[in-house]
Order: sequence, then structure tokens, then C-alpha cells
Amino acid sequence: MGGTATVTKGEAIYEGKAKIIHATSSPDLLIQYFKDDATAFNGKKKGTIQDKGVCNNAISSHIFGLLEKEGVKTHFVSRLSDREMLVKKVSIIPIEVVMRNVVAGSLSTRMGIPEGEQLKEPVLEFYYKNDDLGDPMINRYHISAFNLATDEEVVTIEKEAFRINKWLLSFFDRMGIRLVDYKLEFGRSPEGVLLADEISPDGCRLWDKTTGEKMDKDRFRRDLGMLTEVYEEMKRRVLAAK
Ligand code: TMP
Repeated sequence: MGGTATVTKGEAIYEGKAKIIHATSSPDLLIQYFKDDATAFNGKKKGTIQDKGVCNNAISSHIFGLLEKEGVKTHFVSRLSDREMLVKKVSIIPIEVVMRNVVAGSLSTRMGIPEGEQLKEPVLEFYYKNDDLGDPMINRYHISAFNLATDEEVVTIEKEAFRINKWLLSFFDRMGIRLVDYKLEFGRSPEGVLLADEISPDGCRLWDKTTGEKMDKDRFRRDLGMLTEVYEEMKRRVLAAK
């Protein structure tokens, strides 16, 4: 018993901006359904990117699978279909972990440094995952004072985030991509803290090393066009990589 081959899809229990979470016939498993909906600026800008959900599911599934082989504990179980990923049930820790290798986006604005400057070491930032508040930046003291996570969980999250970053930098570099920055989410489960959500061009800045072309959701945020094309291209490169 307990095999995943017989899991059936149940009702939608949560709908986010880019994904729908379904219950399954197994109490410990959920199905993550990837939509084509795109939002930016805390939901103020809305649109769709054709086939984005298919690309993000394929990209995330491939990356999670490889991270598991590196010993990173994730919620990933299997890719069920084009748009569906079977995942372990977790309770999402309400912290968005942003890892930065290159100055871009809000860090560029905050520090007054132009986009593209290489950081001499990765920068990890925490944001409070709360759409109504626009995901404000927080630090370890806020996390502790407001009981968002235990000290032990924070230590695990930081350690895993730096380990994931090291691996992802080399992974994307091999396919000609500069990994600028990205967002990670973690969840609590009976197995401990697991990497959750997705790793896809929706939550990463990915720049082509040769052309400098943006290969991520900044094309939508900044109206740069070629949306489906870059998601498809990232899917092609990621799936060809090991
Ligand atoms: P930022 O420059 O807007 O702070 O974003 C940093 C990185 O985190 C960028 O790759 C996009 C990602 N991100 C999300 O995926 N979701 C979010 O809600 C935010 C604010 C950032």
C-alpha cells in the first residue's frame, strides 16, 4: 500500500496566482496544478502566458528531481501530467527566501546600484509571505518575534538555500544562463523542512550569458514580449541538462 500510482485527484483546496492545489486520495499527498496565469507587482498586473504552466511544471519537476539526488529534501514526488505535479503535503512557512547573486530588481532600487553588477558573495533575504501587505522584507528577529519559524527551521532554511544556490549556479551556468536571483519557499512536514513551491522562470531572474537576454518573468513585468518563446527555450535547456 501507499504507492503513488493509484492516487486520484480530489477537490481544489487552494488557488494561488499561478497554481491550484488539489487534495488527493492520499492524505499525505497533494497535486500542484500549474496555470498559465501571470501576475506581477503583487497582483496589480495580470495576464496569461500561453503554455507557461506546462513549461514551469516540466522545469520545476526536473530541477526538484535533480536536487533530491543532491540530497536536498523537497516536496516533489513526480510529474503526473503536463500541468500536474504530485507533491508531499506541507504547511508552507510564511517566509519567501530570496537569494541573489547579481544586483537586479528591488535590490538595485534599494541600494542605488545598477542592474547587472556581480555580488562578491550571495545575498539571502527574507520576506514575510503576505499578499495584503505586499510581502514586506523582514529579518531573523522578525521571524523569531512573530513566531514565523523556529530558530532551528531558520538555520535549516539558510543552510539549504546556500547549498541549493551553489548547485543552481553551476546548473544554469552549464546551459549558458546567468542565475541572477530567485525566490524559494519551504514547508513543514512530518519529515522536517522541505523545499516546496516551484523553481521556474516565474520566480527566477535568468539572463542568457551570451546575449544578455532576459529569459524569465521580467519579460512580462517589463512588457518585453516573446513570453511563451523564452519559457519554451528555458524548458528546452533545463530538460537537456543533468
Ligand atoms: P525582487 O527584485 O522584486 O525583490 O525579486 C527578487 C527575485 O525574487 C526575482 O527573481 C523574482 C522573485 N520574486 C518572486 O518570485 N515573487 C515575489 O513575490 C517577489 C517579490 C520576488
